[in-house]
Amino acid sequence: MEMKIAVCGKGGCGKSTVVAVLAYEFQRRDQQVLVVDSDESNSGLHWMLGIENPPKPLIDFVGGKQEIQNKMFTGFTAGSGDASLSLWRQNEIAMDDIPEAHIEGTNRSRLVVTGKIGRIFEGCACPMGVVTREFLKKLRIDDNEMAIVDMEAGIEHFGRGIESSLDAVIVVVEPSLESLSIAEKTKKLTESGGARFAGAVINKIRSEANRKRLIQELTRRNIIELGCLQYHEALVADGLYGSPVNSEVTKIEAGTIVDRLLDVIRINARSV
Ligand SMILES: Nc1ncnc2c1ncn2[C@@H]1O[C@H](COP(=O)(O)OP(=O)(O)OP(=O)(O)O)[C@@H](O)[C@H]1O
Ligand SMILES: [Mg+2]
Repeated sequence: MEMKIAVCGKGGCGKSTVVAVLAYEFQRRDQQVLVVDSDESNSGLHWMLGIENPPKPLIDFVGGKQEIQNKMFTGFTAGSGDASLSLWRQNEIAMDDIPEAHIEGTNRSRLVVTGKIGRIFEGCACPMGVVTREFLKKLRIDDNEMAIVDMEAGIEHFGRGIESSLDAVIVVVEPSLESLSIAEKTKKLTESGGARFAGAVINKIRSEANRKRLIQELTRRNIIELGCLQYHEALVADGLYGSPVNSEVTKIEAGTIVDRLLDVIRINARSV
């Protein structure tokens, strides 16, 4: 399908869970999935995907934090900012180009961790990190490959040019007003950055009344509902025991989400 999708949302809303659920569903559809973890604090993503060990962060491959900080600093003092900073020599990075130590998993599902850079320069440093931005831009997705990005919580990373290299930005919404408000901001920022916002996945639903209410609130905000994951005790247990996200209990819901997502991506692609 050759797509790059990013999953965003409020801290703890279930971004990584949705990333894993999508990864399993795309695998079921014979896609080779690359999960890109852009959030170092996300220590559980590998086990959620059934991958034994996390890979080494890509930031170490491109010189490490200190060197990138130095390069960024040089860029800022020269007035060019970090936009022109280049860490990879090649113009394109294919999955097979990623050094072994920095990619873990099987052929069907693999994980890379970009490793984010903290706010070194308040106000101008990209919290998502130059590594993530350049990696996503240069990542080449071939036939039957999918990249799914687990974004850092919140919305601070928007407007830094990452989104333009994505086919779809999805937001995860749990039943709270704050989560809805983040979804609304995410949509605005994604679109104002010229990127394609696909819609929201509703998560952790425990009652039909809450689901209806969330759908209403999303509609009011002009946000497409891509589907819903119930609050599953099995997922709580996976989170507690560190087991892979249970793709059996989420199978039907995941199928609906991916069907709707692909429809929206197709429609968006036509309207560009
Ligand atoms: N649908 C669900 N039903 C039950 N538990 C869930 C569901 N979705 C997520 N959880 C649980 O909620 C917790 C947070 O989920 P997850 O780690 O996916 O969130 P996150 O948004 O990635 O968090 P962070 O911002 O810390 O990265 C986990 O323990 C997970 O198992
Ligand atoms: Mg997470």
